[in-house]
Amino acid sequence: MTAASKSEPRLLFFAGSAREKSWNKRLAKLGATIAEANGIAATFVDLADYPMPIYDGDLEAKSGPPDNARKLKALMKVHSGIFIASPEYNASFSPLLKNAIDWVSHIRDEGEAPLEIFKTRVFALGAASPGGMGGLRGLSQLRLVFENGLNALVLPDQFAVPRAVDAFDEHNHLKNKDSQEQFKLLIQKLARAAHVLHG
Ligand SMILES: Cc1cc2nc3c(=O)[nH]c(=O)nc-3n(C[C@H](O)[C@H](O)[C@H](O)COP(=O)(O)O)c2cc1C
Repeated sequence: MTAASKSEPRLLFFAGSAREKSWNKRLAKLGATIAEANGIAATFVDLADYPMPIYDGDLEAKSGPPDNARKLKALMKVHSGIFIASPEYNASFSPLLKNAIDWVSHIRDEGEAPLEIFKTRVFALGAASPGGMGGLRGLSQLRLVFENGLNALVLPDQFAVPRAVDAFDEHNHLKNKDSQEQFKLLIQKLARAAHVLHG
């Protein structure tokens, strides 16, 4: 793995759900597909492949961060823009996502400033939910964590898919063409912002 290239933005897509049939995974995968179709290098990663114990300071002191947190961080490092599709749980975001963020945020590699991995990428947020609000309430909580807690730059635009059960067609594209276009515009903006700011 090499550091993110200066000449080409690379986008990472993942969801805050490990569920096999997750709507948010579908959204993150669709994002990667749209990016590739528009000439933007993209990677989809499934957090189910990066299981981590619940963050515990004693465990961290004893064994260090889990390998999967290190691997996820390494993956983030080779991408300059990151899209996260976040499930809404009780008007917030998922514990899976919070746990992954917390572990990654506490790894400080040699020569690295605190939270450097978050400060040196651009983020965009989205959500899919069977409910009518599409998970938007959870995104305001997630945005707070990224902006206030991690000092990350998060695009003001975000993308929600309400009534996700009926929103995707058999190719996992959005049935509503305006929504699909809106999502494409967000991804293109993320790529441009990531490129301008971080190469
Ligand atoms: C504990 C819990 C709380 C939930 N709270 C909300 C909620 O506040 N708003 C909402 O739209 N959906 C809520 N849901 C439904 C989720 O949006 C739904 O399970 C969704 O499919 C989860 O995302 P996924 O498909 O990516 O796994 C909740 C689900 C769980 C398990």
